[in-house]
Amino acid sequence: MKKLVVLSGAGMSVESGGSTFRGAGGLWGKYPIEQVATPEGYADNPELVINFYNDMRRQLFTSEPNKGHKLVAELEKEFNVTVVTQNIDDLHERAGSSKVIHLHGELTKVCSSYSPYDQRYVKELSPEEYEVKIGDLASDGSQYRPYIVWYGEAVPKIEEAIQYTEQADIFLIIGTSMNVYPAAGLLNYVSADIPVYLIDPNEVSVNSNRHQIHVIRKVASEGMAELTKLLTGRTDV
Ligand code: APR
Repeated sequence: MKKLVVLSGAGMSVESGGSTFRGAGGLWGKYPIEQVATPEGYADNPELVINFYNDMRRQLFTSEPNKGHKLVAELEKEFNVTVVTQNIDDLHERAGSSKVIHLHGELTKVCSSYSPYDQRYVKELSPEEYEVKIGDLASDGSQYRPYIVWYGEAVPKIEEAIQYTEQADIFLIIGTSMNVYPAAGLLNYVSADIPVYLIDPNEVSVNSNRHQIHVIRKVASEGMAELTKLLTGRTDV
C-alpha cells in the first residue's frame, strides 16, 4: 500500500466547533500565548493555565469528528495512512484514524510538572473526570499539568514524524497555516518527486519552492471529499 502522510492543523477541527489560532476569531487573539502556552506562564499562574485547558477539554467532550476527519480515516482502506497532527484534540482518533502522532501534545492527558515527557506519569483523563485541580499530583509528587507542548519546549515526536514524512508516497497538508516550526518544516523532508496536496479555504504561504503543490481551496470536509475522489475514484463522498 502507498504511504500517505497527513499534516493537520486547527482548521481540521473548525467544522467540529474548534477554533483556529490565527486569523479572525483565533484563540491567540483572545488569550495571550505567554500566559497559557508557555512553561513560564504555567510557572507564574498554574491555576489559570490548568483551568484554560479544563475549559478546552470540556468543549472537546461535547464536539464530534467532522466529515473531514472521517474521510481521512477512510483513506486507510486504500493507503497506509499516518496522521501527524498539531492538534491536541482526539478527533482524528475518534473518527477512526489508527496512527496519529500528536506533535503538540494531547488535551485528554495530563503529565508530571517535573518531567512532562516521562510516560510513567502521563495519565488519560475520562469525560467523567476531565478536570484537573491544584493538588492533583502525579506519582512523582508534582502537580499534574496539561500534556501539551508549550512554546519553547521540545517537540519529542518530531523525529518520528520526520521518519514517516521521508517515506511518504503522498503528502497532504490540511487546515494549517504552516506558521509554526518544527511542524511546518516537515515539508522539507518530503521527497521532491511525490505529490503534495494542500486543503485550506484560505491562501497558505508555504515557503518551499521544491514542490508542485496541488491546492484544494476548500474547507476540510469538502476538500477531503474532492481529494478522496481524486485518489480513490470513489463517487459516494
Ligand atoms: N477547514 C480547513 N482549514 C481551515 C478551516 C476549515 N473549515 N478554517 C480555517 N482553516 C485554516 C486557516 O485558513 C488556516 O490556514 O486552518 C488554518 C489554521 O491555522 P492556525 O490558526 O495557524 O492553526 P495551526 O496552523 O494549526 O497552528 C499551529 O500553532 O499556536 C500553535 O500549537 C498551536 O498547533 C498550533 C500551531
